[in-house]
Amino acid sequence: MELILDTANLDAIRELDSLLNVTGVTTNPSIIAKSGMSPEEVIDGLVGCLRPDQKIFIQTVRTDFEGMMEEARYICGLRPENMYVKIPVTHNGLRAIKAAKEEGLGVLATAIYSADEAFLAAMNGADYLAPYVNRMSNYGDGVAMVTELIQMLAVQGLPAKVIAASFKNSWQVHELIRAGIQAVTAPPEVVYSMIGHPGTEIAVSEFTRDWDAAFGRKTLR
Ligand code: E4P
Repeated sequence: MELILDTANLDAIRELDSLLNVTGVTTNPSIIAKSGMSPEEVIDGLVGCLRPDQKIFIQTVRTDFEGMMEEARYICGLRPENMYVKIPVTHNGLRAIKAAKEEGLGVLATAIYSADEAFLAAMNGADYLAPYVNRMSNYGDGVAMVTELIQMLAVQGLPAKVIAASFKNSWQVHELIRAGIQAVTAPPEVVYSMIGHPGTEIAVSEFTRDWDAAFGRKTLR
């Protein structure tokens, strides 16, 4: 499974990348707008702090077909490899996903609210599909809908990877890992909530205390 960070926070990316095997980073226009940095600073920062084998996903801002294609070519040209354009699955977006794949660009279909939207984007050749798990939960069971999508792609033999997005808690991530999700993109706070259980700290304190009491030191040798 690919673990992607859904953030423009470069410090959090560096920190989590040192702790975990991070496959890449996703952003969207809202994430960049709230980052306190200019779009150029975010893009340069991501290109600078991620290794060439790590993936970067940047979303189009324009909503017309020509604009999406222009931005898609710009985004995918930022690095020689592992650059993906995120394109929302609007009508113009579906057309742009088809055209971008015909040009051989890396494409993530985003702003997905239903398994059907995702499935048709997969038929257009999208490499990744980003269903918005938490936002989908306003319309039903987001986790169940994404689980259905995984099954639909498998039975139809489509190669697109589901990169579940819009997580608000680690349970949503956990359930989709259990269902066989190929990738998740989660904000740093959700990833941090999956590690550092208080019980782990207590256990380590007990080991140190017992060792120190028996041997009068806090080191193995
Ligand atoms: C990632 O690709 C999405 O843009 C993101 O996860 C949306 O998350 P939100 O629902 O927290 O805005």
